[in-house]
Amino acid sequence: MARCFITRTLPGASIDRLTAAGHQLDIWPERMPPTPAELVSRTAEAEGLLCMLTDEIDAGLLDSAPDLKVVSNMAVGCDNIDLIACRERGIDVGNTPGVLTDATADLTLSLMLALARRLPEGMSSVRSGEWKTWSPDFLLGMELRDRTLGIIGTGRIGSAVSARAIAFGMEVVESGRPDGPTPGLPLAELLAQADIVSLHCPLTEETRWLVDAEFLSKMQSHALLINTSRGQVVDQIALATALSSGTIAGAALDVTDPEPLPSDDPILMAPNLIVTPHLGSATNRTREAMASIAVDNLLAGLEGRPLPHPVT
Ligand code: DGY
Repeated sequence: MARCFITRTLPGASIDRLTAAGHQLDIWPERMPPTPAELVSRTAEAEGLLCMLTDEIDAGLLDSAPDLKVVSNMAVGCDNIDLIACRERGIDVGNTPGVLTDATADLTLSLMLALARRLPEGMSSVRSGEWKTWSPDFLLGMELRDRTLGIIGTGRIGSAVSARAIAFGMEVVESGRPDGPTPGLPLAELLAQADIVSLHCPLTEETRWLVDAEFLSKMQSHALLINTSRGQVVDQIALATALSSGTIAGAALDVTDPEPLPSDDPILMAPNLIVTPHLGSATNRTREAMASIAVDNLLAGLEGRPLPHPVT
């Protein structure tokens, strides 16, 4: 029997498996995440921590939790966790890959279509009464067929987006690394060719602010940018400038820096921008599956077994 801190109420019934195993659970009951201080104090005596991407797991927190054996993140992205500090302390880290691939790819296509076909403008023109009649030139957008999609980050989600884009009749080009499994296109060539660029890379030191003024200047002026990965992959000040100056035609962000954005954040003033509240994995089925994998990882770590989904 081990003490566990679970930083949010989990969807579905996975929590029952922890109770059945006899573990002593402290479940954060609020809708808002624990503050850093609350996270430290509630984790201090825990052997297991099941956390969310909103929880910052840093060396200071680990130092004040000497019994901690396992950190199970209910997310595939683990940029909220200091992985090196965990490894140095022999703490296992798990994540929830695979089960959110389709939901995130669906959301990516939703954003692409909404932006390309100008749905937010259409909806607000109906609500405001600006729309008076059907007309040949009202709110004309871009069709996906025969357009080129540039995918940056060709893991599971990037590949699922690619399959959907091909079904829509798009050409797909992928960025690659010369040392990667498939070389892909050099970034500058991808940006020169793509009508839509979609980001699916993890947030690492290499990808932080990958999309900066120089990146945006290499995109075509009619091109659209979609980000469903992590907010910090995009330099939002550079993006706001690129949208206002017409360097690119539009952007859709499901992830921002910070989350949520303050209501007066300059990026929200930029034209042709869709922002959604980190909905990539937000379906009942996916969130229940993520919770279930997070519990699997937690149970394995507490029992000293290899995690089913370890982050290395
Ligand atoms: C993840 O799991 O990393 C996603 O961003 C959650 O939606």
